[in-house]
Amino acid sequence: MNILLTVLLAGLLAFTPGVDKSNTKEYDEEYRPQYHFTPPVNWMNDPNGLVYYDEEYHLFYQHNPNGNEWGYMHWGHAVSKDLIHWEHLPIAIFPDENSTDKERCTAFSGSAIVDKNNLLGKQNDETKTLVAFYTSQHCGQRIAYSTDKGRTWEKYENNPIIPFDAIDDARDPKVFWHAPTQKYVMVLYRKLTENDNSRGISIYTSENLTDWKWKSHIPGFFECPDLVEFTVTNRPDETVWVMFDGDGTYLLGDFDGEMFTPSSGRMKSDWGKNYYATQTWSNIPEVDGRTIQIAWMRGGDYPEMPFNGQMSFPSELSVTKFAAGYKLIRKPISEIEMLHDKGRSWENKNIIPGIKQNKVKNVSGDCLHIIGEFDLKTCDNFGFMVRHGSKDPGTEVLYNVKRGVLTVLGSTVPLPPIDNKIKLEILIDRTSIEIYANDGQAVVSNCFVPSEKADEVVLVTTGGELEVIKLEAFKLSSIWEN
Ligand code: FRU
Repeated sequence: MNILLTVLLAGLLAFTPGVDKSNTKEYDEEYRPQYHFTPPVNWMNDPNGLVYYDEEYHLFYQHNPNGNEWGYMHWGHAVSKDLIHWEHLPIAIFPDENSTDKERCTAFSGSAIVDKNNLLGKQNDETKTLVAFYTSQHCGQRIAYSTDKGRTWEKYENNPIIPFDAIDDARDPKVFWHAPTQKYVMVLYRKLTENDNSRGISIYTSENLTDWKWKSHIPGFFECPDLVEFTVTNRPDETVWVMFDGDGTYLLGDFDGEMFTPSSGRMKSDWGKNYYATQTWSNIPEVDGRTIQIAWMRGGDYPEMPFNGQMSFPSELSVTKFAAGYKLIRKPISEIEMLHDKGRSWENKNIIPGIKQNKVKNVSGDCLHIIGEFDLKTCDNFGFMVRHGSKDPGTEVLYNVKRGVLTVLGSTVPLPPIDNKIKLEILIDRTSIEIYANDGQAVVSNCFVPSEKADEVVLVTTGGELEVIKLEAFKLSSIWEN
């Protein structure tokens, strides 16, 4: 369906003129995300070693310092005080055994913790040791540590802590403290046999961070596991464990410190094409208490850019009990408001198709935060054309009332209305669109390559009347500006 022929309204236009495309200076290139993390140059994939310590969020990432394609993996590094603005630091973890090979002994994915009780015995003063667990490809699971808040890293002298096994293809250790059993737990992707059907997550425990005992295996998972306990938002006395697979899908269940027992089938947390290798931050202070997740936006395109890869915008996770069961809820972290520039808002506007009402106008830009609540009234479809311009209709974000689905960039999200209403929170950056629908009940994360000079956002509706209960649109500032 060509929605523009059938529809309607709106044009929205610039708070400020669009990006000057002749300006290719660093961090302002045409396809450089302005508030999603990217490396300065070269390839990036999975987020690694997410840990908070001494008022800094650490973000490490799979990085090829030699080029714009995968290989020669190192851990790149950045820190932030607010999860929004990032300071790039030198490479933290290099391949082992001085490998210069594309794969052998390169530093694959993993996690990091704060060694609060100095179990590794490396602490020099009151600064706690940061301990990173990573896979040395074909060279076993290993430890690197830092006694200076992540500025410099040493390899543990008795590596590997879990030796290489030619059959199991083990990788991506995620380590966390399990208070009831007073042990550290590692979830590790591996195969039990040569058969790919045995792919899954093995669970190990340790009392000292260096000796690990295998306890159990749960099949049906692939890469980058994570296991997190949540207090159920609307049942404060209940907790539930969530086992995440690399693609962000998850199982709910129970965990006794050694074995995960699922209580649900597999559920999707993202319906898009570009959300992968999810990981949550460790050691977030109790006063904050959030579970914060980030993912690599795998598969994005950045034509002619000096870098290749971007992270998702960080999201806050929670679990809520609904009539149909427990569900993971994902929302963009509220820190996004720090980037709000000029905004516009509309309330209680009835939108009728085919009539040039222009009730929602004057929104444009390549970095936007749009938050809307809509009463479906009698309309058949409604949504937005994003990065719309005179020569390009742009990218369609469309809700189909009869099918009860939201579609964007080839992804289809089941989205039942609540009291005949739909809520959409949309994050647009230069090469990505993330949509959090119905207060985080469904999320879709996609990358795109929009047309130059197509900067408008157009609200569209077909069939009948749509009510804009409330709509806010904020232009977002660049995190790299200063
Ligand atoms: C996931 C992954 C991990 C591995 C890393 C290598 O994207 O394949 O399993 O550790 O990337 O870069």
